[in-house]
Amino acid sequence: MDKVIGYLKENFDNYLNELKEFIAIPSISALADHKKDMRDCAKFVSGQLKNAGMKNVKLIKTAGNPLVYGEWMGAPGKPTVLIYGHYDVQPVDPLDLWDNPPFEATVKDGKIYARGANDNKGQCFVHIKAVEAYMKTEGKLPVNVKFLIEGEEEVGSGNLDKFLKDKENKKLLKCDSVLISDTSMYDEGVPTISYGLRGLCYMEIELTGPNRDLHSGSFGGSVANPINELAKIIAKLQNDKGKILIPEFYKNVRKVTKAEKENIKSLKFSDKKYAKELDVKELFGEAGYSTLERLWARPTLDCNGIVGGFIEKGAKTVLPSKASAKISMRLVPDQDPKTVAKQFTKYVKSIAPKYVKIEVKDLHGGNPFYAPLDDRAVQAGAAATAKAFGKKAVFTREGGSIPIVVEFNKQLKAPVVLMGLGLDTDNIHSPNEHFRLENFEKGLYSSAYFFEEYSK
Ligand code: BES
Ligand code: MN
Repeated sequence: MDKVIGYLKENFDNYLNELKEFIAIPSISALADHKKDMRDCAKFVSGQLKNAGMKNVKLIKTAGNPLVYGEWMGAPGKPTVLIYGHYDVQPVDPLDLWDNPPFEATVKDGKIYARGANDNKGQCFVHIKAVEAYMKTEGKLPVNVKFLIEGEEEVGSGNLDKFLKDKENKKLLKCDSVLISDTSMYDEGVPTISYGLRGLCYMEIELTGPNRDLHSGSFGGSVANPINELAKIIAKLQNDKGKILIPEFYKNVRKVTKAEKENIKSLKFSDKKYAKELDVKELFGEAGYSTLERLWARPTLDCNGIVGGFIEKGAKTVLPSKASAKISMRLVPDQDPKTVAKQFTKYVKSIAPKYVKIEVKDLHGGNPFYAPLDDRAVQAGAAATAKAFGKKAVFTREGGSIPIVVEFNKQLKAPVVLMGLGLDTDNIHSPNEHFRLENFEKGLYSSAYFFEEYSK
């Protein structure tokens, strides 16, 4: 083990440079004109897996971006861990808010800045390199390892979801646990294992008023303005205490357990520090719950974008024909995204006035995840990160979503270890995304220690 850690230390700068190469491929899954980048990026990952000593390395075709697979099954009698990550990244807009070009990784103040530096190239690279270090020093790993790195996580993992339902594919991915680094640590320097993720229900409302944009003087007052009506609808989705007003919405929401409340209490979360970091006077959320309860165990509703009318500089007097809004809800156990989509659609249609046409679309969704803590792999994850960071690990739930996690759990019947290495302040999905070099380094050690711990 010392040899492996020593090797990781010696090679840290090389690994950082290789991460920069990984980052330089602009693999934005949401944008159609990046198809070639997606392929190039998948090839880069498969090259990395081969170099790390993985066997049976291949790109697996899907209806969308390829999956990258590789394995090393040389430890008979030992458990098999499936390492999952994603090589696709979020779009970079608004570009002018970046201090450095998003695909030219820049190291500054102990952090590497770039789109994907954290989510998820940096975090998943850690495992590839830890495996590589093992193979190059010991010539073997203490457990069997399979890698599955996909290219559509940021757009809902639809094709991987289909892939997982096939019997042959389940055989290929058969494992005893799934290891993922794509979540956040509780705080700087605090090793963290997450046991929950929120689900998601993502909807779009489109309102149409008159059949064309109109002069707001000649027509204003005679016909409804779809932007005004949309604003009224959005205002009726939540009350001013943060409670969502969709009928039946809370029906399947699981209560926060006593043990969980105690865990939250022990974490000593500071609302003040949090508000200060976000530069807001006060926090806001559903009344009657603490901030961590609201982030981890309560559902939310947010307008993600709203479009309509004149949005250029200056003024134009127009009564627009259309207005639309993208609205997403984060879900918790035992809410079901399809049921929530139906509840949302029914309610929104019921409150829309007769004088506009309404269309409600279900864009995508994902199930919430909740894992038992007593699993052997989860405990190995806690022990490994504790060793790497030199501190006891804490257990958290996440506000974010990784919909495929529930499918791994269900289809492969394997527990999932969420070994997050990011921080909530790392600006993922946002300009100036970054990853702390300290977390990159200790992530490498965490991964190496995990294999050792898990083989015991
Ligand atoms: N890595 C994130 C999920 C995440 C973010 C976990 C923050 C914990 C903290 C992941 O890549 C992501 O962004 N997921 C999307 C899923 C959606 C596109 C279905 C999300 O949560 O918005
Ligand atoms: Mn993401």
